[in-house]
Amino acid sequence: MKIRKNLVVHPILMLGLCLAGSVYVLAAGDPGDQVLEAAGDPARLDYHRAQWDPIHFKPAIDKATDEQCLACHQEIIERRVHTSPAGVKPDQALAWYQTLDTYSGPQDTFHRRHLVDDYANQVMDLHCNTCHQGNDPREEVPEWPGMHDEDFTMRKVVNPNVCLRCHGQFPYKVMNLSGPWEESKDLFGGTCLTCHSSIRTHRHQVTFLKPEGIEQAALKTSDVCYGCHGGRAWYRIAYPYPRHAWEGMPEGTPDWAKGRPTESEARFQVHAAAAETDTAATKPAE
Ligand code: HEC
Ligand code: HEC
Ligand code: HEC
Ligand code: HEC
Ligand code: HEC
Repeated sequence: MKIRKNLVVHPILMLGLCLAGSVYVLAAGDPGDQVLEAAGDPARLDYHRAQWDPIHFKPAIDKATDEQCLACHQEIIERRVHTSPAGVKPDQALAWYQTLDTYSGPQDTFHRRHLVDDYANQVMDLHCNTCHQGNDPREEVPEWPGMHDEDFTMRKVVNPNVCLRCHGQFPYKVMNLSGPWEESKDLFGGTCLTCHSSIRTHRHQVTFLKPEGIEQAALKTSDVCYGCHGGRAWYRIAYPYPRHAWEGMPEGTPDWAKGRPTESEARFQVHAAAAETDTAATKPAE
């Protein structure tokens, strides 16, 4: 039985391979021509070369503009939300984090909510490489993960510390508040600025935020501040923010702040970025 089956299978397999091979050769043409044609036009590189384009990895990714990424990844901006596999229509769903006063407009994709929607543009200035820092494909799971792949990372890795900056818990204990914001806010007129117009006033001087836009928007609703400092928390911890000196700062460092940096992370500092190309000019258009 076994031998017979093998005899039947092999010729078919061989025929299939020959056919597939010749179709591939016919379709591919001279690969050299393709590379020449594609030079200077990243969108026309063949799939495999594009996937391994050095722009995805260090050091090139640090200097990449949004436009360069979007030459191949236009779908990141164009794609829209669709009915979920379970049949939930986007215009009939609202998640807990979408009930903040700042949430507006119809459901939209993750990338659009961070890059192109009105509110994003008002308070922040994120770029592809703010989150995408390049990941080494040799450290990624070769196929789908199995029992012995613990040392590999998944694909598409983004460092979660980037998200934590705007999606951590509200650190009410360091503020000496009696409880979470929802419980304690009424004591302070419902606004963070009761205290924060004079405490930790040196804030948000980083390339991926719009400090003036934030302060302006915050005059209307405290959900602006709260939104990035507890109102959309994906984590159980708060981000250990750098503690910049401010005017009228008391002497001495409280215990919880010992060992904290006193400056923002170098790659996001505003003066460091001013020397680079003007990345704001490459903001993806809607
Ligand atoms: C020359 C075209 C091209 C350019 C330019 C390009 N990409 Fe890609 N990228 C690809 C292709 C092709 C893939 C593979 C897509 C897949 O397998 O689904 C890919 C995959 C990715 C992935 C998924 C990685 C993974 O491990 O699955 C991310 C994230 C990504 N690109 C981000 C970027 C960013 C950020 C930039 C700009 C710094 C960029 N790309 C520039 C073509 C490009
Ligand atoms: C706020 C952070 C953030 C920004 C800004 C960002 N991305 Fe992403 N991106 C992510 C995350 C998170 C994922 C999903 C990662 C995963 O699945 O592990 C992702 C996934 C992707 C993927 C693969 C999956 C997909 O959705 O197709 C591509 C390609 C990609 N991003 C390209 C871009 C490009 C191009 C830009 C700039 C125009 C950009 N991203 C800006 C965080 C970001
Ligand atoms: C600079 C601050 C900032 C960073 C960094 C950031 N986010 Fe956000 N995120 C926001 C803001 C602001 C909103 C609300 C947007 C709105 O309401 O239009 C949001 C919304 C979201 C949403 C909800 C989108 C929706 O459909 O309502 C998700 C999910 C999310 N962020 C995940 C992430 C992840 C994952 C990362 C890291 C890869 C990240 N964010 C990095 C500020 C940030
Ligand atoms: C009762 C006054 C008060 C109110 C109200 C208040 N804060 Fe604070 N906040 C403080 C104090 C005090 C600190 C710590 C100052 C220091 O560094 O010594 C602080 C620190 C912070 C920090 C830095 C935490 C860290 O780990 O470095 C953030 C972020 C913050 N507040 C955000 C907010 C937001 C957002 C709101 C409103 C939702 C708010 N605060 C409301 C008094 C207040
Ligand atoms: C779009 C998201 C976003 C909004 C809105 C926002 N913050 Fe922040 N905030 C951040 C990020 C990110 C940092 C850390 C920046 C850095 O790395 O220096 C930060 C840092 C801080 C700090 C630490 C300051 C220091 O010593 O460096 C305080 C305090 C703070 N924010 C209070 C507020 C208050 C008050 C508001 C409203 C007026 C507010 N935030 C609105 C994202 C936001």
